[in-house]
Amino acid sequence: MTTVYTTSNAEGPIDFINMYDLEEMAKEVIPKGGYGYINSGAGDVFTYRENERAFDHRLIIPHVLKDVELPTTEVTFMDEKLRAPIIMAPIAAHGLANMKGEEATAKGVADFGSIFSISSYASRTIAQIREAAGPEACQWFQLYMSKDDGINIDILAQAKASGAKAIILTADATVGGNRETDKRNGFTFPLPMPIVQAYQSGVGQTMDAVYGSSKQKLSPRDVEFIAKNSSLPVFVKGIQSEEDVERALSAGANGIWVSNHGGRQLDGGPATFDSLQYVARAVDKRVPIIFDSGVRRGQHVFKAIASGADLVAIGRPAIYGLALGGAAGVKQVFEFFQKELEMVMQLAGTQTVADITQAKLRANHYI
Ligand code: FNR
Ligand code: LAC
Repeated sequence: MTTVYTTSNAEGPIDFINMYDLEEMAKEVIPKGGYGYINSGAGDVFTYRENERAFDHRLIIPHVLKDVELPTTEVTFMDEKLRAPIIMAPIAAHGLANMKGEEATAKGVADFGSIFSISSYASRTIAQIREAAGPEACQWFQLYMSKDDGINIDILAQAKASGAKAIILTADATVGGNRETDKRNGFTFPLPMPIVQAYQSGVGQTMDAVYGSSKQKLSPRDVEFIAKNSSLPVFVKGIQSEEDVERALSAGANGIWVSNHGGRQLDGGPATFDSLQYVARAVDKRVPIIFDSGVRRGQHVFKAIASGADLVAIGRPAIYGLALGGAAGVKQVFEFFQKELEMVMQLAGTQTVADITQAKLRANHYI
């Protein structure tokens, strides 16, 4: 007899101070296996921890007498007007955190005024996620490729038909990182993955099995394949080195998503913030850069942009907000980051996001 997975069905404002509170509070409303899957990192969680610690490697210099008040966080990206340079990272299986799944998350991000990335492993269909967010919402689609190109073409067609404005090719998860929390919990996915039903169900599968069913032998040819079969911009996600920047750009990538998957993949690798320094130098403004992993403060957003990122993506905090407040909770999480960013901008003497890109961070020689 298969047990029905039930989780939070919350919808409404959340009372919290910061993202660390949300992480603790969400533990009380998400079932143990689902929370462990969402919250945990890989291996000894060295890289997971480095993601937040690395933001201390470079310091924001406060500036005064800069004639700044009421800084604006608004940016325009690929002709989309965003309330802040803060977007939703693609996250699998939002149904683990809230019964409304991606329908609530996508609505919350749309209500805030930013971009929602649909994961291939979502708990809802592309059409349901579009319906929930409305026709004007800006959405990107993140592809985990099937080994069967016919299936890939069909999924890309669905994404394009739903109005996705870009495709994210996630390239750093061809096998699972060592997810020991999931092993301890005996975690298997309790929910279907409707978008990729043609090549895997999700239900009852471990993360390793899910990755095993996907295409693992990714190459620059896959970037070309996606561009050809979607006619959409392609961002390659999981880039952390100059060499991989060149490999992606030579294949025609339209954007680089620097990420270590929130410390869930190769444990023992660098923090994404440290990799960003190398990636930004290699990209040299040829294409946009999206940054994610470990962002928990407005100052983290500021530092990533000052280090060369065009947009910063949020992962786990948005899912905690989903669990505790549904669409309203997700919107509140994005508003938290935006408000903190505004404060940091004021104290750093930067009126606009363009000013942040000119801000000089100081290396912290004391750690
Ligand atoms: C992810 N991530 C991810 N990435 C991706 O390309 N496709 C996916 O389906 C998922 N699924 C997923 C599930 C969960 C529970 C987590 C925590 C992460 C990685 C995600 O896009 C992003 O890189 C990290 O989450 C960013 O780190 P933070 O913000 O969660 O610390
Ligand atoms: C994860 C996959 C789904 O990090 O990207 O769990």
